[in-house]
Amino acid sequence: MSKYSLGKQRVLSGVQPTGNLHLGNYLGAIRNWVASQSQYDNFFCVVDLHAITVPHNPATLAADTYSIAALYLACGIDLEYSTIFVQSHISAHSELAWLLNCITPLNWLERMIQFKEKALKQGENVSVGLLDYPVLMAADILLYDADQVPVGEDQKQHIELTRDIAIRINDQFGSKKKTVLKLPEPLIRKEGARVMSLTDGTRKMSKSDPSELSRINLLDSPEEIKKKIKRCKTDAVKGLEFDNPERPECNNLLTLYTLLSGKNKEEVAQECQDMGWGQFKPLLTETTIEALKPIQQKYQEVMEEKGYLESVLREGRQQAEAVANQTLSRVKAALGYSVPL
Ligand code: TYM
Repeated sequence: MSKYSLGKQRVLSGVQPTGNLHLGNYLGAIRNWVASQSQYDNFFCVVDLHAITVPHNPATLAADTYSIAALYLACGIDLEYSTIFVQSHISAHSELAWLLNCITPLNWLERMIQFKEKALKQGENVSVGLLDYPVLMAADILLYDADQVPVGEDQKQHIELTRDIAIRINDQFGSKKKTVLKLPEPLIRKEGARVMSLTDGTRKMSKSDPSELSRINLLDSPEEIKKKIKRCKTDAVKGLEFDNPERPECNNLLTLYTLLSGKNKEEVAQECQDMGWGQFKPLLTETTIEALKPIQQKYQEVMEEKGYLESVLREGRQQAEAVANQTLSRVKAALGYSVPL
């Protein structure tokens, strides 16, 4: 019997296998997947088709994809509630993306903030795939009839676009009685929704920042974590506080401490109000190392258990493919395609 038989709401989310996962990916997304997974039927994919929308290294793509899947398990994704799979293993993602492409107005994509930001960095080399990134993301979500999509703040616009695409398909090809696609909702937790860079508190922590010092990766060693926090940007004000727009680094580092220590904001505000950076930085270092230790240990275990990850992804593929293919057939039928004999 399928593990998904209780009529729960569906969740879908994913992470790109581009480089290491950092604290932004963890606190903005994966930690929240783990926290709410028992309430939902969950599909978590490694979005390796998205990873080639900017220049990529074919020598590391497969290993990076496996590493992210292992990190999902290491962070606490439980196969009792969740399915883990690789996007490129299921051809329905690309196929639905094509169908959606043909009904998505070009100017909707040209408006996307992330496209504009990433396109700037690519100069002359902007691929069609980069522009089309959000349509593939819409296909990921809509294939699973997802009700909720847990992500960081930066993905909100892409989920709104997904809804707009679904509404357009339903208007053009569905009826009042029979909608074609389900409208998903973004699930964005306020805390951790936008983790900022360690070297500039006004910019998002990001995998593509050329400076390694700007982010803490989930697999960083204690020495690396110590070095990055030691060198992170602070200010010259004594006493630490949240929510002062003049002190973005202070707010970010206190937020990291809050989320990683499991304390609440009020407790942390009180604990740190008279501290200087010399006292706070070792505290944040210790807390970060301790919070990441169990994830790193579990990651090593998963990577050492030969064949285990393959079996998780094989089973994940079967579970996910069955759902995806059903939705794809539904959309193709609505668009007027003949069923192959
Ligand atoms: P990616 O790999 O860029 O990011 C993965 C997740 O991490 C969140 N995130 C952050 N959250 C808080 N602070 C940050 N500094 C930070 N940086 C990243 C992102 O919001 C995201 O939730 N487009 C998606 C991948 C994707 C996807 C999907 C997500 C493809 N298809 C379908 C959900 C559903 C992305 O941003 O990946």
